[in-house]
Amino acid sequence: MSWVGTSWKMNKTLAEARDYATRLAAALSDGAPAGVQPFIIPPATAITTVRDILGPDSPVVLGIQNAHWADAGAWTGEISVPQAADAGARLVEIGHSERREFFAETDETVNLKVKATLAHGLRPLLCVGEPGEVFAAGGSVAHIMAQVAAALDGIDDVSRVLIAYEPIWAIGEHGREARPEDIEAVFAALDAAYGDRVEAILYGGSVNQGNAEETLRVPGVNGLFVGRSAWQVDGYLELLRIAASLA
Ligand code: PGA
Repeated sequence: MSWVGTSWKMNKTLAEARDYATRLAAALSDGAPAGVQPFIIPPATAITTVRDILGPDSPVVLGIQNAHWADAGAWTGEISVPQAADAGARLVEIGHSERREFFAETDETVNLKVKATLAHGLRPLLCVGEPGEVFAAGGSVAHIMAQVAAALDGIDDVSRVLIAYEPIWAIGEHGREARPEDIEAVFAALDAAYGDRVEAILYGGSVNQGNAEETLRVPGVNGLFVGRSAWQVDGYLELLRIAASLA
């Protein structure tokens, strides 16, 4: 199964979310393309809106971009995993490099969040990635394997976990697209260590309609985690079609 999804990051009003969800629901009214598992991660403000438009039988898995590890309490500004689940999220994005860099997310808090997500029966989407200097110095594999090991520390059953390898140098408008040879070694290492234990291992970072196919052909890649190129629903649907053509 190829998991293909997008985080909208800090984008979209409710009107924009409604428009996207309405078009997506119409396009997938006969179900998801064979072999593809779609997922959408709106901002928290829009999860219930998107849930209600997609409806209970939608093939789309909904997610949240972050959640706290505690079930409830005095944590101003945070959202717990049970609250996310109550709003309709079935997946929790954890440890995106933007959260590690700008919001003090550490390997320790990532590990706590992965555990909390699994404890409540949701899927963690664990994001890992190395900075450009580490890539340039040839340290990508060691960096990524250490990040994943720290995030999964103390967890025996990782079968519901999704891992997204997203090199920091490839993410966002200042990122550069990865070539297959840039990411092959990391996927070989992740696949050898986790390929038969986790749900899927995804690639993210400047994925677009032009490079999706060659990325999905890299051995060990089981899906795509996309930002900008999937923020318009037509762009997302095209990525689903590309994944389906290879499934
Ligand atoms: P991008 O974002 O596709 O816009 O580079 C990817 C991500 O941050 O997951």
